[in-house]
Amino acid sequence: MNKEAQKRTPFADALEEYCQQQMVPFHTPGHKLGTGAPCREQALFGTALRQDLGLMYALDDLFQPEGPLREAMELAADAYGAGRTFFSVNGTTACIEAMILAVCGPGDTVLIPREAHRSVLSGLILSGAMPAYMESRYAGREEVSLGPDPASLQAAIAAHGEAKAVLFTYPTYDGLAGRLAEMVQIAHQHGLIVLVDEAHGAHLAFHEDLPADALACGADCVAQSTHKLTGSLTQTSMLHCRKGFPYTERVAAAMALVQSTSPHYWFLASLDLARQQMALEGRELEEKALFLARQARKQLNALSGISCFGGEMTRYEAVESLDETKLTIDFSGLGLTGREAERLLRTAHIEVELTAGHHVLALVTFGDTEKSIQTLLEGCRTIACTHETVERKDTAEPPLPQPRVVMAPREAWYAEKEAMARPLCAGQICAETITFYPPGIPVVAAGEVLTGEVLAYIDQKLNEGYVTNGAADSSLDTIQVVRKG
Ligand SMILES: Cc1ncc(COP(=O)(O)O)c(C=O)c1O
Repeated sequence: MNKEAQKRTPFADALEEYCQQQMVPFHTPGHKLGTGAPCREQALFGTALRQDLGLMYALDDLFQPEGPLREAMELAADAYGAGRTFFSVNGTTACIEAMILAVCGPGDTVLIPREAHRSVLSGLILSGAMPAYMESRYAGREEVSLGPDPASLQAAIAAHGEAKAVLFTYPTYDGLAGRLAEMVQIAHQHGLIVLVDEAHGAHLAFHEDLPADALACGADCVAQSTHKLTGSLTQTSMLHCRKGFPYTERVAAAMALVQSTSPHYWFLASLDLARQQMALEGRELEEKALFLARQARKQLNALSGISCFGGEMTRYEAVESLDETKLTIDFSGLGLTGREAERLLRTAHIEVELTAGHHVLALVTFGDTEKSIQTLLEGCRTIACTHETVERKDTAEPPLPQPRVVMAPREAWYAEKEAMARPLCAGQICAETITFYPPGIPVVAAGEVLTGEVLAYIDQKLNEGYVTNGAADSSLDTIQVVRKG
């Protein structure tokens, strides 16, 4: 990385200079720098409306960058070690859709983890590609998915010799990093293109104690939510192509397909600034985040009935390392579900990232302070002091049924659907995705057969009181199926 060049913020500078010129606008947006905005919008956003600009060819064009935006994206590529980097104003969602669209066409097979983010399914619907699933490992004690391991990748390759690409989610939401470098090597040996959903990894490249980033592991194309764990505005992400990736021009074209033609320039400027921040100060900033998270983890583990896993997760074959800035706080020793703990924490003005099983996930970043960490610890301490400890039971997760994919997600999307009473669904093609938490891995997805095994799994989960996510009828009295011709 060229540290001297990384001091530059070409697009943020260009935007600032343009705003200082106080041009009289005869272009969009219609509120004309705030003058015509609704009163409440003016009160809420104030002078920020004066900089609400997008689609200004005077500045640069996101899809045909030739000036400061091009330089900003080149600097990002240099900072992340990519051959080429694209900015996204539609999050990692657009990046994932674009990378699938770029490398897969109708009927192509792509290997994906069972718990892939919904944007992967969107990419499959848009491209017409077929999913083939790699089996994911699951940690029953911690109630978290570990993702696929090299053996599950090998098995998927053996079963789907026709596959064109493989997509990994790395690291998981909980910060668990699989054996990616090894899996990339296996995939490349079999001629597969490697796509990585690194939504939770924009910070990884900047500290040696964090898991290795996906580009460093040899991936071909990597989607990162810059906004999730580094400093850019919500909705902003980057898509990186490795040096020499032959599909790079198709990726550029696909990024234009899935994004607005009026990108907000704040979003683009914030990506420029976040890149500069990480390039110049990333190591110290991540050192701070790691320090705060390590302190918090230690103190959480000292509270009775509460636990927070750490480096010992590498005892699982599928896990190579852990992003320690993620705090998966488990309340099972107090007999509380994640949802219940979330509600209790909210009464203490603490909002967590997500809940599942008996835990909540708290993200620690360099934006945190000793004070914010103390607030979290205090909230957890209060819960520990006001609840009796109970004997902790490991969750005995029933094995997930083998998926039987018979229809491309795109075909299922366009198919006529009907709601069918669950007991009548055996043999039908499912038209929606049904997931229970835990394990947070879909039991069935659109385009798959509702086999007897799938229905028995659903019955068992419902009998045990688990709630589903993603289904049109959350009681699952009925399931959306593809209507037969
Ligand atoms: C694993 C994963 N991939 C992709 C996304 C989509 O990212 P974005 O919100 O930046 O569109 C998310 C969002 O939570 C995610 O968790």
